[in-house]
Amino acid sequence: MTRTLITGGLVITSAEEIHADVLIEDSRIVAIASTGTQEWTAERVIDASGKYVIPGGVDAHTHMQMPFGGTTASDTFESGTRAAAWGGTTTIIDFAIQSVGQSLRQGLDLWHAKADAQCAIDYGFHMILSDVNESTLREMDRLVGEGVSSFKLFTAYPGVFYSDDGQILRAMQQAADNGGLIMMHAENGIAIDVLVRQALERGDTEPRYHGEVRRALLEAEATHRTIQLARVAGSPLYVVHVAAQEAVAELTTARDMGLPVFGETCPQYLYLSTDNLAEPDFEGAKYVCSTPLRPREHQAALWRALRTNDLQVVSTDHCPFCFAGQKELGRDDFSKIPNGLPGVENRMDLLHQAVVDGNISRRRWIEIACASPARMFGLYGKKGTIAPGADADVVIYDPTAEQVMSAATHHMNVDYSAYEGKRVTGRVETVLSRGELVIEQREFVGRAGHGQYMPRATCQYLS
Ligand code: URP
Ligand code: ZN
Ligand code: ZN
Ligand code: ZN
Repeated sequence: MTRTLITGGLVITSAEEIHADVLIEDSRIVAIASTGTQEWTAERVIDASGKYVIPGGVDAHTHMQMPFGGTTASDTFESGTRAAAWGGTTTIIDFAIQSVGQSLRQGLDLWHAKADAQCAIDYGFHMILSDVNESTLREMDRLVGEGVSSFKLFTAYPGVFYSDDGQILRAMQQAADNGGLIMMHAENGIAIDVLVRQALERGDTEPRYHGEVRRALLEAEATHRTIQLARVAGSPLYVVHVAAQEAVAELTTARDMGLPVFGETCPQYLYLSTDNLAEPDFEGAKYVCSTPLRPREHQAALWRALRTNDLQVVSTDHCPFCFAGQKELGRDDFSKIPNGLPGVENRMDLLHQAVVDGNISRRRWIEIACASPARMFGLYGKKGTIAPGADADVVIYDPTAEQVMSAATHHMNVDYSAYEGKRVTGRVETVLSRGELVIEQREFVGRAGHGQYMPRATCQYLS
């Protein structure tokens, strides 16, 4: 048995903040006590005086090495999970993809093969449904039983991931029955595709038109529609990457009615805007993702919803494409720019900056970045908190260190940073994953293959 003792830090969970020592045996936290009150001994002692001791981050939305738009997201499970660890995230939930004509099993097997023995931190899978039919619906039940308890559907991307309202309703009925959670990419893709064609016909080919055609109203409409479909099916609903204030309003209305409707936003919607999409010389392509960045005025509604718990989770939707050779595919046509932003390494720091800026409290930081995503996706208890019995996924965080975000210093396998030059206060110092050091005093000491696959329970907000 190996004992690790973390002494003298401020332990922060979503529930409390206490100056405490944390005792770890092998891979688990076994005890917590007020600083200096116990005579614990350990082979490894980590002095966290002046630092925060927080649960490892849970990033519930990543796309490592995802094929999209004729190319593949540039972070592998190996490079992407290493970068996640650098940023204080110790669990990711990535999206396995069922392609049209495939079974869910084939898609899931493929994603297991990609991730197996590659990850530096623990990982789970959601399943993207691209082809809802009778046999896929039966497969959903089996997947819930084996720990893939959430399913993403799209009202966007006709011909690729798109499901029509009937398919969405059927999948929701199945989830109502088997305890699965439906995750929704809510944008009216049929209407958007008309506007894309019209924009290109007018010669409006630059990246900023990506944001203009994917109208906020079409995000709000799909959010409203899918909430109503979930009501009809009697299923819960989790709306991913919420960007528009009008979509937030739909979630707030539903939650005020007491409906089991949840929402996620991402750092890019909190810190970036259509100003970035409008950057000259095709630089705007770096900020092309869907849902798109919105005008700056939308940010206040997102921050407010994070405080009022109308949004429960901040994840990254990490889906990096290099500017050179990948984003450039759409130089003459914004609709050919692969969609997605890098960010898995930046999330914990950007949300700590929100604490510094007074947008959220420290405990709310831990809630939206660690505890709530763990609860939402059936990992809480093991992940998302510092408590006896939990996995020893622990971050020693220096709340006073200053850093400047940059592609020159980040660890994601992508040739730009969406936050280039941004100064933030706070930095990860040391990271443990199941009791093993992954980052030690800002040095990577982990290894590919340490990370384990995590089968998940069903949503813990519903039971
Ligand atoms: O632009 C994005 N978000 N790319 C990843 C795929 C998705 O819809 O989440
Ligand atoms: Zn999406
Ligand atoms: Zn995504
Ligand atoms: Zn290991």
